[in-house]
Amino acid sequence: MLITKLEEILKDIFIKCGFAVDKVTVSKSSRPDLGDYQCNDIFRLSKKLGINPLEIGEKITNFQDEKINQTFQKIEFVKPGFLNLVLSDAFINENIKYLNNHERFGIEEENQTYVIDYGGANVAKPLHVGHMRTAIVGEAIKRIIAFRGNKIIGDIHMGDYGLQIGQVIYGLKNENITLEDINIQILNRLYPQISSLCKEDEIVKETCAEITKNLQDGNKEYQKYWQKIMEVSIADMQKLYNYLDVHFDLWYGESDSYPYLPIVEEMLESNHLLVQSEGALVVNVKTADDKKEIPPLLFKKSNGAYLYASTDLATIYQRWQDFKPNHILYVVDNRQEMHFEQVFRVSDKLNMLKYADLEFLGYGTVNGEDGKPYKTRNGDAPSLEDLFKQTKEIFIQKREENKDMPEEDLNKIVNAILKFADLSNSREKDYIFDLNKFSDVTGKTGPYILYTYLRLNKVLKELNISSDLTDNIYNEVDRELRLKILEVTSALESAYQERKPSYLADYLYNLCVCANQFYGANHIIGLEDKEKQNNWLYVLNLVNKIIKQLLNLLAIDIPSKM
Ligand code: ARG
Repeated sequence: MLITKLEEILKDIFIKCGFAVDKVTVSKSSRPDLGDYQCNDIFRLSKKLGINPLEIGEKITNFQDEKINQTFQKIEFVKPGFLNLVLSDAFINENIKYLNNHERFGIEEENQTYVIDYGGANVAKPLHVGHMRTAIVGEAIKRIIAFRGNKIIGDIHMGDYGLQIGQVIYGLKNENITLEDINIQILNRLYPQISSLCKEDEIVKETCAEITKNLQDGNKEYQKYWQKIMEVSIADMQKLYNYLDVHFDLWYGESDSYPYLPIVEEMLESNHLLVQSEGALVVNVKTADDKKEIPPLLFKKSNGAYLYASTDLATIYQRWQDFKPNHILYVVDNRQEMHFEQVFRVSDKLNMLKYADLEFLGYGTVNGEDGKPYKTRNGDAPSLEDLFKQTKEIFIQKREENKDMPEEDLNKIVNAILKFADLSNSREKDYIFDLNKFSDVTGKTGPYILYTYLRLNKVLKELNISSDLTDNIYNEVDRELRLKILEVTSALESAYQERKPSYLADYLYNLCVCANQFYGANHIIGLEDKEKQNNWLYVLNLVNKIIKQLLNLLAIDIPSKM
């Protein structure tokens, strides 16, 4: 990575100047007018060594050797203890060439095994905006991790055995709907209907809970209903996930963990971890250092029913046996953080996956303009299908010519609008859902990135792309664009380390701003100076290569034109 390279070169200078340091830290300059990168270590070093910072600064800036001259145009000392680093054109271009020839843009290869749990759709409940967020964020994280060469298995982990199934079976039986007649419209109508009935009617509520328990215990009739409900509901989910270009390797659900529950129970038992509490079986997980209250994990209810935490533990067991993963990641709503805290602690106690290898990657809420969870005008969470339709309509209304775009391209743009908006917000934060803003072709939006790519692509298709780059950089916007290109590795690195695709979305936007500024200021077509033209085409080609790859990591496809 560029920063690491600079740190090594600088450390070498420090040592050659007689200052023994183990590490030197370099960062992007906060004053781009003064330097490209900066180092703030001198101040600290001067305290440690009892030497005046100016003295250290002078020694460093006066030091010269071939490597320094190749790397820096200048190194400047600024009081009280900063070094401003201006890179040489040759060094910038050498790194541009390196990125152009490196298939992972400077990222090192890894080969670990991951499982990523995302999507989390619930059978028989319509998918809503929250499910879109875990699908979008999860898919991007999955691709970012796979990009480094890792193996990553995506599991949707459906909620397929919970109370909603009992409620829907109750409704179906109550209306004498036969198995053959069950369809998605009926399911979409029944779930909200019976779920609100349960809030009013204690008897219905109990009946539904009983149906659920009997189903889990293997009741034949309910199993038949369940299978049909699964079939209809999954077909509908698949349609929506396909539209989002989100693909799960496994379509497992809570129900698939049931065979492993007795094994986990036995493991808990033999480790003396199960404790009776008001008739239920719980596992205490709090430790002496906990600053906040961590309640016990509820493993089994007094009626013998297992719970959400039990199935999550059994699922860890299953994944541990099946894949021996190094890590399991969970892309789930922030509000479930405590649940996973409990589950991870128990997994650790059982010596399945260790606490550090289980990661809760929480995401925030998608809010409306009022700062409350996004709703349609009639007060429901909008279904995903409606949301896709609405997004398309808003985009079409933006410009006359959008109307005539091929359907396939429009669908790609809908994806870009929704995904880029979501991913440009850091995953753990809430954000306000403003479709009108998200679908603009200007600003930090998906369409802006696509537009930039297509704009550059037009020139690249018209002229021959050069395979070589000489050492010249021609003007300020040109230099800025090249420096921005060099940041791609650290954007990929941060997105991976923190499991945050927003680093890529931010980087893409900044890269596109530089590319448009460059393109607006420099005429390339018809340029007399062929060397200059070649160099610029080389740079723009790399820009588009990066945009395309990064968009792919965000699961955004590029339309044929816009
Ligand atoms: N179905 C759950 C929900 O809608 C999300 C599942 C998350 N994954 C998990 N392993 N618990 O809230």
